[in-house]
Amino acid sequence: MTKRHREHLGQEPAPLLPGWLPPEIDQTKPHPARMYDYMLGGKNHFAVDREAAEVVLAAAPTARAMVRENRAFLGRAVRYLAEAGITQFLDIGTGLPGAGNTGEVARAVNPQTRVAYVDYDPIVAVHSRALLAGDESRTAVVLADVRDPAGILEHPDIRALLDFDRPIAVLMVALLHFVAFDEDVAGIAAAFRDALAPGSALVISHGTDGGQPEVSAAARKGWDKATSQIVVRDRAEITALFGDFDLVPPGVVQLPQWRPDGPVREDWETIWLDGGVAVKR
Ligand SMILES: C[S@@+](CC[C@H](N)C(=O)[O-])C[C@H]1O[C@@H](n2cnc3c(N)ncnc32)[C@H](O)[C@@H]1O
Repeated sequence: MTKRHREHLGQEPAPLLPGWLPPEIDQTKPHPARMYDYMLGGKNHFAVDREAAEVVLAAAPTARAMVRENRAFLGRAVRYLAEAGITQFLDIGTGLPGAGNTGEVARAVNPQTRVAYVDYDPIVAVHSRALLAGDESRTAVVLADVRDPAGILEHPDIRALLDFDRPIAVLMVALLHFVAFDEDVAGIAAAFRDALAPGSALVISHGTDGGQPEVSAAARKGWDKATSQIVVRDRAEITALFGDFDLVPPGVVQLPQWRPDGPVREDWETIWLDGGVAVKR
């Protein structure tokens, strides 16, 4: 067994060496999934991603804490919904698979949980498929863009895995800030809400400017040359994405304050991401 196989079996994505690169992996532009992986301490990034992430970190040194708090929020939200009985998840903007991914957290509660992973970055699909091979009865990996909701909602692999007549949790965690102001984020969120059965849930986290627009603008320059740029929205705009779904207490808050497992970090105000979970009546 090669080191690479061992790493995959251990759920640890292996670094992609040049010889392994499928042609669709573009090393000339920073990719948000790979920048995020670098900031999380992962192994799947190229020089162009690291340089872009360092622009973010130089302007906003707490950006690393932000991505970690975001992953932790995802874990708490998935566990909350799995414990509430949700057994189907549609995780859009999955990112590179790593410890604490949606399937791992949900299946610790119910091993039968079905998870469809969707991302527009081919590197995510390559890694996810390698990790999840042989698990097709519970898992789908789809290369698609959230800005085309019908392409996701009608995708045959997703329809084959998930039953839209039963509750599904749709995750858009640290995703919608990659949807530009002129790309109808409200319509995108509504299309997913409308497709779901009662008892379904929506999980969203989204970047804000933290009340420091100049620092935020300097940090966001890190995504200027990336495949998608990043925008921030305020709490009212983020809350509106949940539409008429019922927000689970405490509502839309800064992520460390969403149903913390333990003491909330003292510097929680430096985590410039708001999020919440809401359920369809
Ligand atoms: C910051 S990462 C978040 C990963 C994961 N959801 C988490 O919170 O840990 C954002 C992910 O969204 C993906 N993404 C960005 N824009 C997208 C789009 N328009 N459609 C689908 N995925 C997108 C990126 O490729 C990346 O994997």
